[in-house]
Formats: sequence, C-alpha cells, structure tokens
Amino acid sequence: MSVNIGIDDLPIRDELRGKSPYGAPQLDVPVRLNTNENPYPLPEPLVERIAERVREAARTLNRYPDRDAVELRTELAAYLTRTTGHQVGTANVWAANGSNEVIQQLLQTFAGPGRLAIGFEPSYSMHGLIARGTGTGWISGPRNDDFTIDVAAATAAIAAHRPDVVFITSPNNPTGTAVEAETVLALYEAAQAAKPSLVVVDEAYVEFSHRPSLLSLIEGRPHLVVSRTMSKAFGAAGLRLGYLAAHPAVVDAVQLVRLPYHLSAVTQATALAALEHTDTLLGYVEQLKTERDRLVTELRALGYEVTESDANFVQFGRFTGEGAAHAVWRKILDRGVLVRDNGVPGWLRVTAGTPRENDAFLDAVRALKKEQT
Ligand SMILES: Cc1ncc(COP(=O)(O)O)c(C=O)c1O
Repeated sequence: MSVNIGIDDLPIRDELRGKSPYGAPQLDVPVRLNTNENPYPLPEPLVERIAERVREAARTLNRYPDRDAVELRTELAAYLTRTTGHQVGTANVWAANGSNEVIQQLLQTFAGPGRLAIGFEPSYSMHGLIARGTGTGWISGPRNDDFTIDVAAATAAIAAHRPDVVFITSPNNPTGTAVEAETVLALYEAAQAAKPSLVVVDEAYVEFSHRPSLLSLIEGRPHLVVSRTMSKAFGAAGLRLGYLAAHPAVVDAVQLVRLPYHLSAVTQATALAALEHTDTLLGYVEQLKTERDRLVTELRALGYEVTESDANFVQFGRFTGEGAAHAVWRKILDRGVLVRDNGVPGWLRVTAGTPRENDAFLDAVRALKKEQT
C-alpha cells in the first residue's frame, strides 16, 4: 500500500527542510547554452582510445580500483606542470568524481557542523549548497557592482566571521570575471590572520582565461588549494572527474573522509585516455575562446551590457524591472535557445557553443531587440 507523504513528512535534518536541490533545467530544445558544457563531442580517435582503455580495465573489474589513483594523479600533475609552468607532483594532486566531490571532501575535512565557509556572491551556487549538505554554515560575502571582489569588504567579512573555508572562484561563475593574484593573496593573508582557514581557488574555467592560472600561489602556502575539472576544457562533463592541487598534507587530510575506492576503474581509465589527447582538446578551447569573444563583441554591438569574461560563457543584461531577466530568458527559449537565468537580478548567462549555436542565439536576441524598437 502506498502512503502519500512528502519530503517534509520525513525525519530529515532541520536545515534541509523547505530547501530545493540543484536543478539547472535540462530541457529538450534545439540549442542548449545553459550549463557551461563544451559543445564539441570528444574526437573519434579519443573515443576509440577510451574504448581500448576501458576494455583493459574491464578485465580486472572483479577487483577494487587503485584506491589512490596514482597513475591518474601523476598524469594530472604532468598536465598542470606543462600548462602552468609550475612544478606539481603526484603528492600534490587529488582526484574525485567531479570538482563538486573535491569541494565536498574539502568541506567534510575542513568545515562541517559548527564551522563556517564564505563565498563572494553571485558565484557558483554549489559552494553554498555543498556547505549546507556537509552541515557547514554559509556566509554570503559581497562583490563590487562590476562583479569583481571588493578586497576591503571581503577581508573585513573574513575578519568578522572567521570562516574555516574561503571560496574564491576564478574565473567566476556566473559572471565570468577573473580574480587578480593580489586579491587572492590579500584574502589568504586575511584568512590566515583570522583563523587560520583553508582558501579554495576554484579554477573550473581557467583554461578559457586570458590570464595565467593561480596555481603557482600554492607554493609556500599550505592552506591554499586550487580545484580543477575535466568537465569544461576537456569536454568531459559526463566523465565526472575533478581534481585539486595543494600541499601534500592537504591531500593526506582529504583521505580521512573520502569513501574507499571512490574513483571507479572505468573513470580512471577514461580520464587517462582523455589526458593522452590533451593537445587536441585544448585546440577546441582556443575555438571556444574566439567564439566567447565574438559573443561579447556582438552583444555589446546590440547595446547589451556585458561583463568581462575569462570563461566559456558570457553574462549579459542589464534588464531592469521585477522579473525582467526571466521574461527575456523565456523569449529566447521560445526561439529554441536555452540560456541560464541564475537569479542574478538584471542578468542572464549564455555559454559559448559552436559557431552555429552562437549564431542561433545571436539571431534570437537580435529579433528581441527589433521587437522592442
Ligand atoms: C565554478 C565551478 N566549479 C565547479 C563546477 C563543477 O564541476 P564538476 O563537473 O567538475 O563537478 C562548476 C560547474 O559548473 C563550476 O561552475
């Protein structure tokens, strides 16, 4: 017999009552530019290589995978060293199922019940949601009107709240803004003086940036962590592979909370195959950067305000009036293009797609402009 009850009738944790799960709409429309995915499918030679590697892994699936993912961490370290010029070793790198899991493990290790994390919003909403899921208190820190971090206000918030974990997202999602190294250093100093706390620089989109990675800042700063993902530049969002670089002691610390054998043999094999094709995949990144810059130029030419973008997406507006951004989102959707309304008042976000997808988006907003005149 089925009993008609809802979530709130269950004995869930009090802080989860009345809350909504993460939920970017997954709608079946011709052009989907709403979740910052890479629009290019993996190239065929890589698909073949994945099949080979996974076939090999399948032969020993009766055994648990390498719990420490040593081969994968070594290749990720080599990738970071090669692309940033900063020497990183296997002991500096940790990998998990998406950078979301990396962030969860960091919060489970360094925050949790009775502790606090801070982020500077608008930013990646999952930082706050994962904080909640791990029982960590969440502080929403401020930003300037141009969406850069207000250093004075941010350091004051850190001094006042003394958080255990500080999130800095560069380039930031949903705004696209990159963070200067001096800003990270100022916030790091403030965080060390206040607690000391762990500073997490989320570089999910850094391969698309005009500026170099902030990775070298981990040198001599054992409380600084850089998190990365293969979901964006590597075009492998479906793989679920994220990683971090930090002092080896941080890598040792997250072992205290990671589930045994958290990274399947199939995931490790697939990620290793993708890393063999880094050069091809980074070639797509260059095309996407060109398309991102074209979106910025064309949107500005149409009279939209556009936030400086170092990512594979662009924030545009400004739509004034209650619900105005959402009304524009709906009109763009009516023309078969799904963009993202992140709830930032007056702004929408569009992911750079293929040239054809971007043309479809630009045609849609052009038609809207015409309607208005
Ligand atoms: C800033 C930021 N960090 C992390 C992630 C999560 O990436 P992953 O797919 O590796 O979990 C995203 C995804 O959109 C993101 O925007």
